[in-house]
Amino acid sequence: MLQEACRLIDYMAKTRHHLHRYPELSRNEQETSRFIRQELAAMDGVEILNLPLETGVVAMIRGQGPGPSKVTALRADIDALPIQEQTGLPYQSAHAGIMHACGHDGHAAILLGVARILSSQRFKFSGAVKLLFQPAEEQLWGARHMIEAGVLENPRVDTIVGVHGGIEAEIGKIGLYAGPFMASTDRFTVKIKGVGAHAAYPHRGKDAMLTTGHCIVALQGIVSREIDAVEKAVLSICKINGGNAFNILPAEVEFCGTVRNHNEELRKVIRDKMDRMIGGIAAAHDCTHQLDYVFGMPGVVNNKDTVEKLAEAARLSLGESNVTMLSKPLMGSEDFALYLQSVPQGCMFRLGIAGPNPVQLHTATFDFPDDALPVGAAVMASFILETHK
Ligand code: NI
Repeated sequence: MLQEACRLIDYMAKTRHHLHRYPELSRNEQETSRFIRQELAAMDGVEILNLPLETGVVAMIRGQGPGPSKVTALRADIDALPIQEQTGLPYQSAHAGIMHACGHDGHAAILLGVARILSSQRFKFSGAVKLLFQPAEEQLWGARHMIEAGVLENPRVDTIVGVHGGIEAEIGKIGLYAGPFMASTDRFTVKIKGVGAHAAYPHRGKDAMLTTGHCIVALQGIVSREIDAVEKAVLSICKINGGNAFNILPAEVEFCGTVRNHNEELRKVIRDKMDRMIGGIAAAHDCTHQLDYVFGMPGVVNNKDTVEKLAEAARLSLGESNVTMLSKPLMGSEDFALYLQSVPQGCMFRLGIAGPNPVQLHTATFDFPDDALPVGAAVMASFILETHK
């Protein structure tokens, strides 16, 4: 399969460069969607599904081979980021301040490559394959939009596989992880309310600033002292707002941040501990508090059985040594988690994109390596051929 995918490297690279040159932000992927539809329409046996989508494209390929009539969805995201590109590449972004800095141009090109392989090999698999070109992943909005548009129904999806490039693995390899793979993402805003005062006479007020300082330090004690040390959790305070002069103590200070972890039950536990701790500290300083805690994206939990089948298919096409089991999960998050809530038989895999000098994702000099394109396409296409027979 890798050889077949390698024959498509020029097609996938050309496609990626086009997408890279014309990146679009989340929920604005009109031109990207039009381009993807046009590419799919040129392929035999690819049906573009008519779903009520703002942006994004869903297509289906029906197999003609014997075997079970199962339905597998393959997902690639297609949106770009608000970053001014500084790569100097010939296909550098033509849109000021917008760039494919997370490699979604690569993911979309891979899925178009998969579409070409599978549409020409329909007699080799049974059932159907849905191709999900998902918008607005960066805003954790697109998966919900696609699900609400009915992408998982008619026919009902049994299994789902998603791809994302990562520098944890070298080009040519993929990384897999069974179980809780990516973290849930919650966000919180805390308001500490006191009584404003002249900076020279703090005793005449109630100091929201000092109280906030104590809260920021103490909150780190939740993960380090109150959560089992073998759990994976992080609490980060990222923004603070309060006061507007060097000599006035403000009546109110606000700070906000995020909590990430890999254990669904811990989310509420951490929230409650934060509320207790902030409330206690505020009371100690004669202030009051308000915690707004928003339970956001759940974690991506990779199904063990799907991971094993994907590993098997990947070994057949890439060779044993190029399929690695990742030693640890990630603290980042993905709205792919939402598909898994409806279709538990699913997983995301990391496509190795690390060259000799890997560049971090979400930076102005990142570029998805073309050499990783056939690897991603081979893994996805061979997963279909191996599991739909
Ligand atoms: Ni991404």
